[in-house]
Amino acid sequence: MSRWAFVDDFTITGESKLMTVTRQQWHSRTAFIMAAVGSAVGLGNVWRFPYVAYSSGGGAFLIPYFVALFTAGIPMLILEMGLGQRMQRGAPLAFGGVRKRLQWFGWWAAGLSAAIVIYYTTILAWAWVYLWHSVGLSWGDKPEAFFFETVLRRTSGPGEIGGLVPALVLGIGLTWLTIYLILRKGVRSVSNVVMITVPLPMVLLTVLLIRGLTLPGAMDGIRYYLTPDFSKLTDLKIWLKAYGQIFFSLSLASGVMIGYGSYLGKKAEITNSALITGLANCGTSFFAGFVVFSMLGYLAQVQGLPVPDVTTSGTGLAFVAFPTAISQLPALNAVFGVIFFLTLLTLGIDSAFALQEAFTTGFHDKWHIPPEKLARYFCLVAFPASLIFVTGGGFYWFDIVDKWICDFGLVISGLAQCLAVGFLYPVRDFRDYLNGQSEVRLGPWWIWMLRYVTPGVLLVILVGNLMQEITVGYEGYPRWATLIGGWGSVLFWVVLGYWLWKRPATVELD
Ligand code: PHE
Repeated sequence: MSRWAFVDDFTITGESKLMTVTRQQWHSRTAFIMAAVGSAVGLGNVWRFPYVAYSSGGGAFLIPYFVALFTAGIPMLILEMGLGQRMQRGAPLAFGGVRKRLQWFGWWAAGLSAAIVIYYTTILAWAWVYLWHSVGLSWGDKPEAFFFETVLRRTSGPGEIGGLVPALVLGIGLTWLTIYLILRKGVRSVSNVVMITVPLPMVLLTVLLIRGLTLPGAMDGIRYYLTPDFSKLTDLKIWLKAYGQIFFSLSLASGVMIGYGSYLGKKAEITNSALITGLANCGTSFFAGFVVFSMLGYLAQVQGLPVPDVTTSGTGLAFVAFPTAISQLPALNAVFGVIFFLTLLTLGIDSAFALQEAFTTGFHDKWHIPPEKLARYFCLVAFPASLIFVTGGGFYWFDIVDKWICDFGLVISGLAQCLAVGFLYPVRDFRDYLNGQSEVRLGPWWIWMLRYVTPGVLLVILVGNLMQEITVGYEGYPRWATLIGGWGSVLFWVVLGYWLWKRPATVELD
């Protein structure tokens, strides 16, 4: 018997000719927590958190951030991990278990994760290309032009697709191959892989931190990052930003944590694991801020600019500001370049395969398709689909799809999820069930958060996003582009979700 508590056989039940299936399981609680942390800790921790914190009150931002963590992040993590574990099913059938019709919603939510992984792999493709270019510091003294013109070959707008960019096609192909190899044995291989892909980026970040802190100007950067500005806390927007950041960072509402929870044994403890995952994720974000701002402080000093002038987030930080700082290092530039892009790759890959798993788990649950086949078919369909993002116009489409899936798709999904479990599911009974397996006991506050606080905040965020979209649009993109790429990518899954819901199962559903 392997160390895996893994049985993948099934029995044909006499009457209905449906299969009953035994699920794979994580081989240890550590493997589960590592996988959950791996999914949560991603690019968002490095390229988004430090900037959001800096621009939203510095050290004072930690107050709304931790309030958001405890009033929405952790309660929802407990809900998602607990629902998956209790139902022993990924998002589609877990919601189908709450109410039959909700299976449709479950497919839609899991579909969002399929959509995210299809564009998330683009960032990993860029990181592969930069890993290669780090060796010769090919961006020279024009990192911005290098990123947009040489690497992305960016066209003038979303209407001009341009051709495929060969280096990026190679990078994205390599990413899909990696995902396939990791997922083909299901959670069995994932359990082993996360033992490397979770601690490795932490070690690499620590190396970068030591380098960063020993550079001149580092402390100026850190002062910018953390100097508290308590006056900002009276601004509602800052609070909403904190909730938005927590939400994305903990990979909520995408079916990821439900899928991962479903591979836990029936007796597994949830509350404490969710607490550990949430704190580890936020701790990593806080830590990454020191890495980013020590480097930016140095960059500001060598360029003779104030820190805010070199501060940015997202692609601008990872693919423009960081390469600039790396070129300016006194020694071992290529080594630090390689370390930085390797950090991005190892941070992103476990978020990517978690997303894919969240979607494909539904197929395993409903039709008992084995993990290898699922990994193969998904990658074979998703790889060509992702090619749109590695064309000359791909950057624009990436930007639009990302914005809509996160700002509308995930927010609507989170809202519906809280209301479904809060009001349509015997939530008190659910709480007793979770309390029965954990020393950390959930009080009535948990139900309050799920029923009122989290949905309330999500509703305000959603209305704000909608108003913004209706009144000003997004980044000056033409309406037809946001309609197709934005609303199209959110609504596509409504139709596909309906279709998947209506297909008859070959596995016995309880
Ligand atoms: N949490 C990941 C990050 O911080 C992104 C992610 C979102 C992953 C949703 C899975 C699901 O980068």
